[in-house]
Amino acid sequence: MDRAHLDLKPSGPLRGALRVPGDKSVTHRGLMLLALAEGEGRLLYPLKAGDTLSTARVLGALGAEIAEEGPHFRVRGQGLRLKEPGDVLDCGNAGTLMRLILGILAGQEGLFAVLTGDHSLRRRPMGRVVEPLRAMGAQVDGREGGKRAPLAVRGASLRGIRYTLPVPSAQVKSALLLAGLFAEGVTEVEEPVPTRDHTERLFRHFGLPLGVEGNRIRTRRADPFPAQDLVVPGDFSSAAFFLVAALITPGSEVVVEGVGLNPTRTGLLQVLASMGADLEWRVLEGEAGEPVGYIRARYSPLKGVSVDPALIPLMVDEVPILAAAAAWAEGETFIPNLSELRVKESDRVAAIAHNLRALGVEVEPFHDHRIAMAFAVAGFPVGVRVWEPGWAEISYPGFFRDLLGLCGGS
Ligand code: S3P
Repeated sequence: MDRAHLDLKPSGPLRGALRVPGDKSVTHRGLMLLALAEGEGRLLYPLKAGDTLSTARVLGALGAEIAEEGPHFRVRGQGLRLKEPGDVLDCGNAGTLMRLILGILAGQEGLFAVLTGDHSLRRRPMGRVVEPLRAMGAQVDGREGGKRAPLAVRGASLRGIRYTLPVPSAQVKSALLLAGLFAEGVTEVEEPVPTRDHTERLFRHFGLPLGVEGNRIRTRRADPFPAQDLVVPGDFSSAAFFLVAALITPGSEVVVEGVGLNPTRTGLLQVLASMGADLEWRVLEGEAGEPVGYIRARYSPLKGVSVDPALIPLMVDEVPILAAAAAWAEGETFIPNLSELRVKESDRVAAIAHNLRALGVEVEPFHDHRIAMAFAVAGFPVGVRVWEPGWAEISYPGFFRDLLGLCGGS
């Protein structure tokens, strides 16, 4: 069978301003917290893409009423007590959904649910969430003793634990904090290095219990809480593709507006700046506790650098696009600390190596949205064929249209 492909070639530099779709992490979390809230609230400018539509569907099966209202979602929550689903919950490709919802379901006493996902998600490690949840009293089983989906969960009475994350993971941290909302006593998560803190910011937005002391985050059982409207900033991870496309395409200047500039997400800006990138960014406002502003990128000759390992957790989803930038830089770039990338939507270390070898010829998406977009950008200045471009729709429907729109390419 012929596979779909897209041939991309710019007909000039990239110029102009754009807004990227809403932040994926904030959309998942916003939908979940609104589903647990009392009454109705709107999620404004959310991401509507494969992953977050999976979240909306799963929450719908758990009793939340979610309706589209123009670009927004209107959500009527179930309160802290969800409905038992009548069927298996399909998380699609969305790791954030599976791990976070597990934390919520673990504390729904008596409720039974089965979680599955696509081929990629069923291969990803779930033990990192299941083990600490079990220490809280959760009843979870699954393939390989609960290490891989499908997973079955029977909600139970939970108790808080103190837990130090063995790997930096915002998903594990968030799953435990969400479970902590249903647990007796205090739940404390210690993170050796900071990871994205959207869950903490949203807990504050919704008035949920939260204490942060250095690298220790605490919560406890929540009382019913009212819904609140929530504005979702543009996704920095999506903006990153256009920033790098502008940096490597001569004559380009691109501005991304309304984008989230949460410092736990923007490690890439520091690395690109150290490579000689002409970048400028400014925070202009705050939305739901998230700093939002613009980023301007101008074409720049880049030079290779050795990346500070401490920055990797602050740019964990941007390593593929950094590799694309590095391919265009003078000299060698060293990117350390990549073991977590092997357990993303694909083995991203292998996917990066494969696509770097084929640079400027064709892109193999590895069933991974970020790989598809990162290497479409890497090959863009010279023209490239992207196989199965539809994978981009997991986090960015319209990505190729937006990329070509900046330069009138074909
Ligand atoms: C995410 C956390 C990161 C990231 C993923 C989204 C989140 O995963 O790679 O795309 O929304 O919490 P890990 O927690 O596994 O690092």
